[in-house]
Amino acid sequence: MEKAKILGHRGASGYAPENTMEAFRLAIQQQADGFEIDIHITKDGEIVVIHDDTIDRTSNGSGNVPDFTLAELKQFNYNAGFEHMFPVAEIPTLKQVLELVKTHNLYLNIEIKDIMTNTGKYDGLNLAAARLVEEYELVDQVIFSSFNHNSMAELKESYPEIKTALLHFSKLYKGEAYAKSAKADALHPLFSVVDKSIVEQAHQAGIQVNAWTVNQEADIERMIEAGVDAIITDYPDVGYRIRESRQS
Ligand code: G3P
Ligand code: MG
Repeated sequence: MEKAKILGHRGASGYAPENTMEAFRLAIQQQADGFEIDIHITKDGEIVVIHDDTIDRTSNGSGNVPDFTLAELKQFNYNAGFEHMFPVAEIPTLKQVLELVKTHNLYLNIEIKDIMTNTGKYDGLNLAAARLVEEYELVDQVIFSSFNHNSMAELKESYPEIKTALLHFSKLYKGEAYAKSAKADALHPLFSVVDKSIVEQAHQAGIQVNAWTVNQEADIERMIEAGVDAIITDYPDVGYRIRESRQS
């Protein structure tokens, strides 16, 4: 069995401002195999790395991400919660992250936070991000995920070579068959709904299982025992230590 990958959730966000280059560099220092990021699109069509659709919680500014240009977003400080250790942190672009991933040969989970417009259509973030991943020749190192399974199915139709995953909170009835129906490569369940049989059934169908957000030592151990393919955690150093002690 392959070792479970350890992925920093929004970077090493237990120790550094989430979704910033500081959190990503720290995840690398802590020997993570890669990290998970969340993306949105700006007013001028740039893809930026931020969890919420507003900048209120994570920066010193306020407003909706799609109402700002990239240059405007870059003027705010995104160090919320870590002001003393990280006096300044900027909002990264997806391009900046892809460069880092390429340089360090990492694994990247891009979670799409797409927004439905008033025409009933999504904003095209999924396809725009996939185009960039292709451009950077990182198809083999990237997996996309979303709670919007329609967005993942649509992405797969346009880019069959891109890996996709379905995020979910609850147990799925015949999850592996559901994943297959959306042509997804993986399920991304909340860790508490994962057990060994779910992972085994998924693996038999050729579907990977990557659990989030696993922060307690006992839960990390349980996920490794269940045989998950990746553990998404705010504390990659803890994940790495436990994984190495169990699967070395
Ligand atoms: O991708 C795993 C996890 O990040 C999903 O939830 O809200 O933290 O983006 P959220
Ligand atoms: Mg996320």
